[in-house]
Amino acid sequence: MSAEGAPLVLVSNRGPVTFQENGEVKRGGGGLVTALTGLASHRDAIWIASAMTEQDIAVTEQHGGRPFTAELPDGGSYKVRLVASDPGAYDRFYNVFANPMLWFIQHYLWDLSNAPDIRREEVEAFEFGYNVVNEDLARAVLEEIDGQQEPVVMVHDYHLYTLPGLIRKERPDVFLHHFVHIPWTQPDAWRVLPTKIRTEIYEGLLANDIVGFHTRSYRRNFLQCCRDLMDLEVDFDRGIVHCPDGHQVWVRAYPLPIDAEQTRAVAKRPRTAEFEGELLRRRREHLILRVDRADLSKNVLRGFTAFDVFLEQHPEFRERVTFVAQLMPSRTDVPEYAEYLERIEAVVAVVNHRHGTPDWMPIHLKLRDDLEEAVAAYKNYDLLLVNAMFDGMNLVAKEGPLVNERAGVSILSENTGAHEELGEFALSVNPFDIQELADSIHAALTMPREERERRLAGLKRIVTQRDPGDWIDDQLADIRKKEGANGN
Ligand code: F6P
Repeated sequence: MSAEGAPLVLVSNRGPVTFQENGEVKRGGGGLVTALTGLASHRDAIWIASAMTEQDIAVTEQHGGRPFTAELPDGGSYKVRLVASDPGAYDRFYNVFANPMLWFIQHYLWDLSNAPDIRREEVEAFEFGYNVVNEDLARAVLEEIDGQQEPVVMVHDYHLYTLPGLIRKERPDVFLHHFVHIPWTQPDAWRVLPTKIRTEIYEGLLANDIVGFHTRSYRRNFLQCCRDLMDLEVDFDRGIVHCPDGHQVWVRAYPLPIDAEQTRAVAKRPRTAEFEGELLRRRREHLILRVDRADLSKNVLRGFTAFDVFLEQHPEFRERVTFVAQLMPSRTDVPEYAEYLERIEAVVAVVNHRHGTPDWMPIHLKLRDDLEEAVAAYKNYDLLLVNAMFDGMNLVAKEGPLVNERAGVSILSENTGAHEELGEFALSVNPFDIQELADSIHAALTMPREERERRLAGLKRIVTQRDPGDWIDDQLADIRKKEGANGN
């Protein structure tokens, strides 16, 4: 790599740490942080991210806006630089434009006959929110790479599509690698955006040298978008977009693996054992589990409806099965998400009322984010339900089987990124087909032990084949290859 010796610069909206009101440091949540944690520990790196809480802003100010080392309570430390944006701009960026606008486009969530209405609010959220936060983070990146020759910057996710263009303008010598953690949808889904905004987004992304996705299918969709929406010449076989100025963008698929060692370590923690004790005391013959952010893309409502249908059609399972749903409230300042949480609670109440008895509650809803509690349940499920409508990867589908000790069966939506790798050993479902899902629940709970063991062993084998270090190595190898091709 040209910038050998210089720290790698990572930039994402959510950082590896967030500071709490009580002064505690908390690990940032979600798949992106899990992925980059490996990267940051792999080599010397500085991680630039948004200051997301008031406490983050206070800590940033204490450090004069400069990078500092953040230590995590459970080990590990990161060199981070948190960037505070104007709160109004950040609100428009996160709660209006990134979520729901882009998130919904990239998960096919818009109900187009009803929403979205694009009004001044949405357009201004892009201009004075999304772009402002991208500019703030870009400025921090430019400061960090100042004085370095041909630095490498790795940009992450859908929050930062316009940032690469801003960096490229100031530093034509920079190598920009952008990984998108969510699906890339087909061209028509993008036609929701006004052409000007869409063009700015694609031009920003095409300032990168490499754009990476979790799957081959997202890669194909992106190439198709560049051809159909931007009228660019695209080489589908080699995964290259040719820009009019001669710049080439390589488009690649890098499926994200889990950190098996770290997940196994969580499985052994005393706090995990405490949760397990409680779960085992309460468990019935069969335990169905789902663990998700309370996000519309996760398809939580159809999951409960399918369970309702299953209990209706197979009354012999009443009082013999519990469905534990651990859902982390997420993006609750976005009205669509707040309403979704309410709908989840309402459906759970209906199913519990319809089938429950004085000493049996069919669905146990836990609205909280607790890693040890989730891992305790991973070890003990008979059936893991991952029925997302669309999902970039879905790491739960990988972490669950890794530590499961009960020959648990996985039901896996064919529209998750994880399905490209795990489909063979899971019960695949169309996430919209409630009857198929109810039938699959029955098939899983009545499956012979030997077959369950065969499937679980297959899943364990696949999820331990590669780790986040390999994921990073693949990307760094492509960076070196493309630097060579660029003539650096
Ligand atoms: O890539 C999607 C992602 O950014 C993941 O990191 C994570 O699962 C989720 O979205 C977190 O979203 P937020 O940062 O809005 O909480």
